[in-house]
Amino acid sequence: MKKKTKNSEFEHFSTLANDWWSKNGKFKILHDIQLVRMEYIKQVINKKKLNNIKILDVGCGGGLISEGLTKIGAHVTGIDFVKENISVAKMHAKKNKLKINYFTKDFEKEKITSKYDAIIILEVLEHLNDWSAFIKKIRLNLKKNGVLIISTINRNLISKFLTIDIGENLLKIIPINTHSFYKFIKPKELEYVLLDSNFKNIRFKGLTKDLLKMKWKLSNNTKINYFCSCTLN
Ligand SMILES: C[S@@+](CC[C@H](N)C(=O)[O-])C[C@H]1O[C@@H](n2cnc3c(N)ncnc32)[C@H](O)[C@@H]1O
Repeated sequence: MKKKTKNSEFEHFSTLANDWWSKNGKFKILHDIQLVRMEYIKQVINKKKLNNIKILDVGCGGGLISEGLTKIGAHVTGIDFVKENISVAKMHAKKNKLKINYFTKDFEKEKITSKYDAIIILEVLEHLNDWSAFIKKIRLNLKKNGVLIISTINRNLISKFLTIDIGENLLKIIPINTHSFYKFIKPKELEYVLLDSNFKNIRFKGLTKDLLKMKWKLSNNTKINYFCSCTLN
């Protein structure tokens, strides 16, 4: 099983850029989990409205989360290394009369100068070459007691089977070649790096599909998709 290179990650997301806002398109799953993601972020920040909260959305794609957060009052900056993603995000925000700062930037290589109350990294770490180095770097952009919110995929045979074998290759509900098994991250590995990077209050929550109601929900099962939140010391 090959580990995807940075170039192939870039090319993969470049070819999908025009599909970000198509609810039944290539990013259908991200649309399906949008409400649960927003619910989780509000729970962690412990506020229903995020007025005056400065948030960085890292790897924002077409802006699904950036827009959700802006609609409830946050001041959002979204960054992504695919120029087409940022163009789509800017156009969509303009259409919806939302003020969001979007920048094309490779956050692994380029510097981010501002400090934020919260940094959101959803479904991104498992696409990086060195996610632990990135966590150590991005913590410098958090204010004291700032909140870091992550979502990613656990690494085990069940997560491989459900996301890659079934989700990508069989049902094709996730675009083929989106994920590389060896880039998945175990909660323990993430916890170790977060502790080592001076984070505290590290908490995990599962994201699972209720097969009876056919709805995504927060759960205690972190075997496949999971969220993690923590605060900077
Ligand atoms: C699966 S998408 C997640 C998008 C968004 N966070 C969401 O959950 O709706 C991963 C995103 O990370 C971006 N990305 C990956 N590596 C990056 C890097 N080094 N710098 C900037 N963006 C990156 C990709 O272009 C893609 O838009």
